[in-house]
Amino acid sequence: MVVVAIDGPSASGKSTVSKEVALSLQFTYVDSGSLYRGLTWKAIRSGLDMKNSEAVVEWLAGVQIDFFVETRVVRFTMEGEDPGLQLRSEPVRESVSDMAAIPEVRTFVVRHLRDMVRFGNIVMEGRDIGSVVFPMTPFKFYLDADPEERARRRFEEQVKLEGKGDVNAVLDSLKRRDQKDTTRKTAPLQIPLGARVINTTSMSIQQVVELIAADVAKNMSANRS
Ligand code: DC
Repeated sequence: MVVVAIDGPSASGKSTVSKEVALSLQFTYVDSGSLYRGLTWKAIRSGLDMKNSEAVVEWLAGVQIDFFVETRVVRFTMEGEDPGLQLRSEPVRESVSDMAAIPEVRTFVVRHLRDMVRFGNIVMEGRDIGSVVFPMTPFKFYLDADPEERARRRFEEQVKLEGKGDVNAVLDSLKRRDQKDTTRKTAPLQIPLGARVINTTSMSIQQVVELIAADVAKNMSANRS
């Protein structure tokens, strides 16, 4: 099975690029962050506080997740319920980084992520895919962009979704998240060993997609011969 690992900080263009690369290669797309978000959604509904890691770990043992593929995207239900757009809601956004910092939660998610190869060739995006989840894959990419450009992209998304936004507030929040993501004890965001780093600051989505898809296709045929 081929695993394409795409890591990078928030608003680096990972999600859009990863989905498009999966379509272009006819692979299945996996958003690893959606599992951390899904657990956070379910935990909030169970009345848990993500800062109480002991209670979260105890609760985790009984969580039932079922995965399925829909139009080349891996989705899941938790206890039979589809979280849908709730994954992007404010309460989930607020607590997900606390959830993702709990080592037992990471072990649980990584186990499920490794199992995704049962769906065939995959493109998986996240923060630790090339470093922790699939360190042996030869297809590793790390997307980055200047913080100002990432803030501009997030701001545009926000304006589209909510009709308003504040670019400086977005930049501050991105910098805070970068700091949290790169300094946490378990699986901090880092450039995985052997990853191809792509600075997307002045590239279009299409250019990044073509670069990655061509690189994967070339190396797949080189590995076959
Ligand atoms: O990519 P995202 O915004 O959906 O990620 C949600 C949260 O999960 C964010 O706090 C980073 C964390 N995350 C992680 O720690 N490791 C991953 N592989 C993916 C996401």
